[in-house]
Amino acid sequence: MPDDAKKKLRSSAWFGKQDREGFNHRAWMRNQGLPTHLFDGRPVIGICNTWSELTPCNAHFRRIAEHVKRGVYEAGGFPLEFPVMSLGETLMRPTTMLYRNLASMDVEESIRANPLDGLVLLVGCDKTTPALMMGAASCDLPAVVVSGGPMLNGKFRGHDIGSGTDVWSMSEEVRAGTISLADFMEAESCMSRSAGTCMTMGTASTMASMVEALGMGMPANAAIPAVDSRRYVLAHMAGRRAVEIVHEDLRMSKILTREAFENAIKVNAAIGGSTNAIVHLLALAGRVGVKLDLDDFDKLGHDMPLLVDLRPSGRFLMEEFYYAGGLPAVLRELGTMLHQDALTITGKSLGENNASAPCWNREVIRPLDKPLQEKAGIAVLRGNLCPDGAVIKPSAGTPSLFRHRGRAVVFETIEDFKAKIDSPDLDIDETCVMVLKGAGPRGYPGFPELGNLPLPPKVLKKGITDMVRISDARMSGTAYGTVVLHVSPESAVGGTLALVQNGDMVELDVEKRSLNLAVDDAEIAKRRAAWKPPAPHSERGWVKLYAEHVMQAHQGCDLDFLVGNSGAAVPRPAH
Ligand code: FES
Repeated sequence: MPDDAKKKLRSSAWFGKQDREGFNHRAWMRNQGLPTHLFDGRPVIGICNTWSELTPCNAHFRRIAEHVKRGVYEAGGFPLEFPVMSLGETLMRPTTMLYRNLASMDVEESIRANPLDGLVLLVGCDKTTPALMMGAASCDLPAVVVSGGPMLNGKFRGHDIGSGTDVWSMSEEVRAGTISLADFMEAESCMSRSAGTCMTMGTASTMASMVEALGMGMPANAAIPAVDSRRYVLAHMAGRRAVEIVHEDLRMSKILTREAFENAIKVNAAIGGSTNAIVHLLALAGRVGVKLDLDDFDKLGHDMPLLVDLRPSGRFLMEEFYYAGGLPAVLRELGTMLHQDALTITGKSLGENNASAPCWNREVIRPLDKPLQEKAGIAVLRGNLCPDGAVIKPSAGTPSLFRHRGRAVVFETIEDFKAKIDSPDLDIDETCVMVLKGAGPRGYPGFPELGNLPLPPKVLKKGITDMVRISDARMSGTAYGTVVLHVSPESAVGGTLALVQNGDMVELDVEKRSLNLAVDDAEIAKRRAAWKPPAPHSERGWVKLYAEHVMQAHQGCDLDFLVGNSGAAVPRPAH
C-alpha cells in the first residue's frame, strides 16, 4: 500500500507514530506476540465478539472469530478481537431488551476509543444483532456483519421440533392435559442439538435475514447452519472483505440507506419474520439518520407475499431453508419488489449478488405466484387504545379473529396474570380479549416478550388454541397467535391501555387497521384524571438512566440521546 494511503487510516494515529506515544501503543500490544510488520499501517480490523457462555447461541463465536482472522490476515489486514456485552435471550432477567441500548453504547465507545479502521461484527442471539449494528452505525466505520447461524433442527421422537415455537405449543398441550409433563421434559434435551441460534424464523433468524437484506452481510449469511463448514467459509470471506472495504471507504452509512431499510421491511414480510424487527430497524435507522416510521412497515410490507414456509408462520426450520436456497433465493424471487440496485457490503448490488441464486425446494421457498399467504406483512393498528400505533403479525394469527369484539379480561401485571390464569374461577371464555398492562419499554422495565399470553386451561380444554390478546409487550419471534403488540403509548406512561377495565368491550379490525376501546370519551377522561403513574423501578444506575430516556415502541425504543451518530474521529491521546 502506498504511504499516503496508509496515512489516511484511523489506526495510524495510534500505531503510526515514531515517538513515545507510538512506542506505548505498540509496545504493550507486543506482549501478545505480534510482529513488527503488523504495525506497518495496514488496516486494523476489530472483530467485535459477543461470545459468552451465558449466551449459549453465541458460544461458538471464538471459533468463528478465528476464521474471520484468517481472512483478515490473508487480505493484508491486522485483526484484533475484542469482547462487548453479550445478551443471552434465555437467561437474562428481566429481559435482554432492557440491555440492547446499553450493549450498543459499549460497542460504540469501544470502537471509537480504539485504533480500529474497520469492523467485523459477530452477532447471533436476538439482541446482539441490533445492539452491535446500532453501536457500530453510530461510529460509521466500514463494517461487515457475520451472524452465528442457526442450530440444526431439533429432533424429538421422530419429529422435528423448533426452538421456541414447539416449546410454546407443547407447554400449552401440558396445560390442556394432552401431553404429560414427563414428555415435555424429555423434549428439553432434544431441541438444541448443536451450536447456533434458534432454528425457527424467530428473532435471531429474522435479524440474520435483515443483515443480509440490508446488504450488511455476505450473501447466505442468514441461513447457513452454525455447524456447517460453509458458515466458517463465510466468516473467512467476511474477514477478507472487511480489509477491502476499509480501502474502499465503504462505510455503514453508504449501505444503510432508505432503500436498504425498505428492502428489509419487505423481506421481513416475505419470510414471516419477527415483529421484533420493527423496533430494531427503527432504532438502527435512527442511528444512521434514515427517516423511517412505524407506518412504513404497513405501507411497504402489507402487500408482500409470504414465500417462506418456516415456523412459527409455517412448517419447516432454518436447515431446510438453507438447503432450499436460503435468503438469496428469496431475494431473487422478490425481483422488482425490492430495490435490487441497493449497494451491499460485497461492493455489488443486491441484485448482482443474487442474480443466479437457485431454489432447490419449492415447498420451503414458494414462487411468487404460489405464496403461502397473499398479504403477509405486519399490520399497524390505530385507535383510541393505541394512538401512536400497535402491531399484529397476521401470518401468525387466526383469520377468523381478525375482526373481533370482545369483553376485556384485564391483567394489571404479568404477576397478576400468573396468579389468575389457571383459576377455574376466572371469568373468561374464548370470545374475551386478554389485556396485559405494565409490559412496555418503561413499565416492565425493558419491553419483555410477554405478548403471547398463554390461554386459560378452561379454554384450552375445549380444543381452542387462539384468542385475541393485547398488550404493550413484545412477542418472541418464535411465538404465534392473534396477538396485538407494542401498544403505544404504553400503560406505564398513561396510555389508554392503562385505563382498560374488566368488562370493557374492545374492538379489533385488522383489515381496517383499528383497535378501539368501546368506552365513551368522557369516561376515558375521568379514568385518565384518576390514573397515577407507577413508582420508578430504580433510583440509580442503568435502569434509572434507561427509564428516563427510553423512547416508546413506535420510535424503536432507543435512548433519546443515542439517536444519530458521532462518527469515529480519533479522540485525544491516551493518558
Ligand atoms: Fe438465542 Fe433464540 S434464544 S437465538
